This record gives sequence, C-alpha cells and structure tokens, in this order.
Amino acid sequence: MVLFTGLLRAEQPVAYSHKQHLALGLDCLDCHSTADTRAKATIPSVQKCMLCHAKVATDKPEVKKVAAYFNSKREIPWERVYGFPASALVKFQHAPHMRAKVACSTCHGDMTQAVAAQRVVNHTMGTCLSCHRQNRAPEDCTACHY
Ligand code: HEC
Ligand code: HEC
Ligand code: HEC
Ligand code: HEC
Ligand code: HEC
Repeated sequence: MVLFTGLLRAEQPVAYSHKQHLALGLDCLDCHSTADTRAKATIPSVQKCMLCHAKVATDKPEVKKVAAYFNSKREIPWERVYGFPASALVKFQHAPHMRAKVACSTCHGDMTQAVAAQRVVNHTMGTCLSCHRQNRAPEDCTACHY
C-alpha cells in the first residue's frame, strides 16, 4: 500500500466535507448507494444534497453553489479521484468486496477524517493480486480484465 499525502488532491467545484457530513451520522451507503450491490459505488446526485440543503445552511456561500447547480438542472462536476486508465481494461467491482466484508477504509483510507476525497491508497495490479492471494479470491486475468 503506497501512501500519497496530498499529492493527488483533486480540485472540487464545491467545498464538500466528508468529515462534517459523516459526523452527522450519515453512512457511506446513504450517498454511495450501490457500493454493496453493484460494480460502481456512484457519486450522489445534487438532488440528494438538496434533500437537506433546500432548508439547511442555505445562507452559506458553498451551499448556494449547490442550490445553483440544482436550480439550473446541472449535476455538480465532481473531479474523479480513483480509477484506472481505460487502456488497462480493468473491471473493478465493489459488490463482491462488500460481500467479503472488506472495509471501505482498506481501499480509500479513513474518510471520516477527510474533507474532499484524495487518493490516499494507490491501487495497482500488484496490490489487488496480493490481497486476492491472501484471501483465495480469483487471480485469473478475466476476473479483473475485459
Ligand atoms: C453526504 C454524502 C456523502 C457521504 C455520506 C459519503 N460521501 Fe463519499 N463522496 C461524496 C461526494 C459529493 C463526493 C465527490 C467529492 C469528493 O471527491 O470528495 C464523494 C467522493 C468519494 C470518494 C472519491 C470517489 C472518486 O473516485 O472520485 C470516495 C472514495 C468516497 N467518497 C468514499 C466515501 C466513504 C468511504 C464514505 C463513508 C465513510 C463516504 N464517502 C460517505 C458524498 C458522500
Ligand atoms: C477492494 C478495494 C475497494 C473497496 C473495499 C472499496 N472501494 Fe471504492 N473504489 C475502489 C477502486 C479501485 C475504485 C476505482 C474503480 C474504477 O474506476 O473502476 C473505487 C471507486 C470508488 C468511487 C468512485 C467511482 C464509483 O464507483 O462510483 C466511490 C464513490 C467509492 N469507490 C466509494 C466506496 C465506498 C463508499 C466503499 C465502501 C462501501 C468502497 N468504495 C469500497 C476500491 C475499493
Ligand atoms: C442529511 C442531510 C445532509 C445531506 C444529505 C447533505 N448535507 Fe451538507 N450539510 C448538512 C448539515 C447539517 C451541514 C452543517 C450546516 C451548519 O453547520 O450550519 C452541512 C454542511 C454543508 C456544507 C458546508 C456549509 C458551510 O460553509 O458551513 C457544504 C458545502 C455542504 N454541506 C454540501 C453538501 C453537498 C454537496 C451535499 C451532497 C453531496 C450535501 N451537503 C448533503 C446536511 C446535509
Ligand atoms: C483487501 C483485499 C482486496 C483488495 C485490495 C482487492 N480485492 Fe478484489 N476481492 C477480494 C475478496 C476477499 C473478494 C471476494 C472473493 C470471493 O467472493 O470469494 C474479491 C473479489 C473480487 C472480484 C470478483 C471476482 C469474482 O469473479 O467473483 C473482482 C473482479 C475483484 N475482486 C477485483 C479487484 C481489483 C481489480 C482490485 C484492485 C483494484 C481488487 N479486487 C482489490 C479482496 C480484495
Ligand atoms: C485482481 C485483479 C487483477 C488480476 C487478476 C489481473 N490484473 Fe492486470 N491489472 C489490474 C489492475 C487494477 C491494473 C491497472 C493498474 C494501474 O493502473 O496501475 C492492471 C493492469 C494490467 C496491465 C497494464 C495495462 C495498461 O495498459 O496499463 C496488463 C498488461 C495486465 N494488467 C495484464 C494482466 C494479465 C495478463 C493478467 C492475468 C495473468 C492480469 N492482468 C490479472 C488488475 C488485475
């Protein structure tokens, strides 16, 4: 596991804080709602933010930005943090890892202390394979590649 401390910080369009929202008692799956059932975890739609922010902290400048996206029927253009080059033809899937009880923090670090997500865990074929070997998970090429 390689640690990048801040080297790959994404510039996000809204100053959303994981730490602040998780302290409210929200669960990862409240926003990344298909991580336990599908390949993708998904980034929440601005509509989900507005379930609260239609009424909560509406005077705050960063929340006004959220409302402006919603009112102009646009999604917030979040910059992606994790991922692989398309050329690597990787098919990563969240659901089997959730079923096997691999914690989100194993692969994404402690988000309860994070503001915007940063790539604090570096995923390579080597890191995938070493955990698969330890857990007798599939090691054949077609498990992870198209
Ligand atoms: C209130 C909604 C909300 C909750 C709850 C939430 N997140 Fe997020 N998450 C977001 C938003 C919005 C983004 C996009 C901004 C960013 O990258 O920080 C994001 C981005 C991420 C990313 C980066 C995705 C990428 O590759 O671009 C990861 C990883 C992540 N969240 C993990 C978690 C984990 C783990 C938890 C629970 C401990 C969690 N999140 C809880 C809203 C949420
Ligand atoms: C075994 C490692 C692993 C675990 C466990 C894991 N992730 Fe991920 N996650 C990844 C990788 C790798 C990517 C990039 C995948 C890609 O782009 O194909 C990713 C991408 C994401 C993304 C952005 C893209 C998407 O899938 O929509 C979010 C959000 C995310 N993870 C949240 C979570 C949350 C929340 C949990 C726990 C419920 C979690 N992850 C558990 C490895 C993991
Ligand atoms: C469950 C309700 C809830 C959801 C869903 C929610 N928020 Fe929040 N958010 C809050 C609360 C409560 C605060 C703290 C307000 C305060 O301190 O006055 C907050 C604070 C914020 C702030 C900081 C405001 C400031 O400057 O102090 C931003 C920015 C923000 N939220 C953006 C988002 C975004 C973007 C989403 C969707 C991805 C989202 N929120 C989803 C309840 C929510
Ligand atoms: C911390 C351990 C761990 C890491 C890291 C990890 N995996 Fe896994 N993976 C597992 C476990 C455990 C399973 C479940 C095996 C089972 O269901 O028998 C699994 C299952 C899978 C599956 C489903 C395989 C199938 O055919 O059922 C895919 C695809 C996969 N992982 C891809 C990846 C990729 C790609 C990476 C790197 C980005 C990765 N994994 C990183 C532990 C890990
Ligand atoms: C457990 C998951 C996993 C398995 C099994 C796996 N790979 Fe990979 N492989 C990856 C991931 C993830 C990457 C992307 C790494 C990165 O971007 O740093 C990758 C990258 C590659 C690349 C580089 C592609 C590029 O253009 O960047 C090649 C070639 C490759 N794998 C071939 C194979 C072959 C051949 C096998 C079978 C012997 C195999 N892989 C098995 C996860 C896996």
